[in-house]
Amino acid sequence: MQTGLCYDDILVVPQYSEIRSRHKIDITSQLDDKTTLKIPIIAAPMDTVCEAPMAIALHKEGAYGILHRYNELSKQLEMYLDVQKEGAQCGAAIGTNGDCIERASALIGAGCDLICIDVAHGHHANVKRTLKELRILYGNNIHIMTGNVATAKAFEDLSEWGADSVRVGIGGGSVCSTRIVTGHGMPNFSAVMACSHSSGKAALVADGGIKNSGDIVKAFAAGADAVMVGSLLAGTHEAPGKWIEDEAGQRCKKIRGMASAAAQEKWRGEASFDEGVALCIPDKGQVKGVIKGLRNGIKSGLSYSGCENLAQLCAKAEFVMQSSLGMGESIPHLKVKRLG
Ligand code: XMP
Repeated sequence: MQTGLCYDDILVVPQYSEIRSRHKIDITSQLDDKTTLKIPIIAAPMDTVCEAPMAIALHKEGAYGILHRYNELSKQLEMYLDVQKEGAQCGAAIGTNGDCIERASALIGAGCDLICIDVAHGHHANVKRTLKELRILYGNNIHIMTGNVATAKAFEDLSEWGADSVRVGIGGGSVCSTRIVTGHGMPNFSAVMACSHSSGKAALVADGGIKNSGDIVKAFAAGADAVMVGSLLAGTHEAPGKWIEDEAGQRCKKIRGMASAAAQEKWRGEASFDEGVALCIPDKGQVKGVIKGLRNGIKSGLSYSGCENLAQLCAKAEFVMQSSLGMGESIPHLKVKRLG
């Protein structure tokens, strides 16, 4: 039986550095020959994370958004056009059933060049079929992102079936209950390591469970080409949804798993299973501020490994496992002194 590790189980070991300034550090990444991200952070296609305002704000920061698919085709198309008028670019998600090919065709016809086949269990015949249909229709003119997977074999198969990029991570997201409900999954750091060491040629998008810039650095060090985040961007001004007040009177927005009962009831009128939860996230300000904090943290991380770019980090990184006591030491832990 293999051992599975999550981001909090490990640290990147500091190394000799000659980096004098964060400005010298380049964190651009290529998703394919045509798609370069100045900061390789991608918003998850969730209805509480990425609609047009999020995609536009991320584009301005050099990051990227993928419009969710939990709506009528006309609504998703309208969102895509809103982004494109603003002169921005984004991707759009489709499923593998119903109107998926019609949806993809309408979006591609409008100019969208990244389609994300967005299903929970990506190592699946339905993904293979949808990928094949899209390749027959559009050849290599579009980028096809697929997922989600958690094993080297799945990553290799999806690469072989024609995926340009693959989302790696099953059940480790902030609002996921898949592992509890189904007993299946793989701790995310190990899933990313396994896929990045596989022979699969697709770009690797580490998806789910990323809580801070430190986790992003760990994902890049493990071989991710980009990270996908949901909760890190939820609760910003550009996230979809209305402001609500929590019990403490704090301004919040909702985040919910797309497999939660609440999300399914909204997008298809009933819930046939429940593999996610709905929560409130306090106001985080604008996306610009969130991305700025992440960018600075990532660059600082690269300097601790003595690296000027993500390729160097991936090649040089060394990891150490930490115990749960080590994790306690890793977070601010000053105890207030007892006076009596
Ligand atoms: P974070 O941790 O960034 O994770 O909020 C975002 C990712 O979580 C996945 N996702 C789900 N997984 N049940 C799941 O098991 C769900 O209801 C659900 N909704 C989203 C998805 O991969 C997303 O990018």
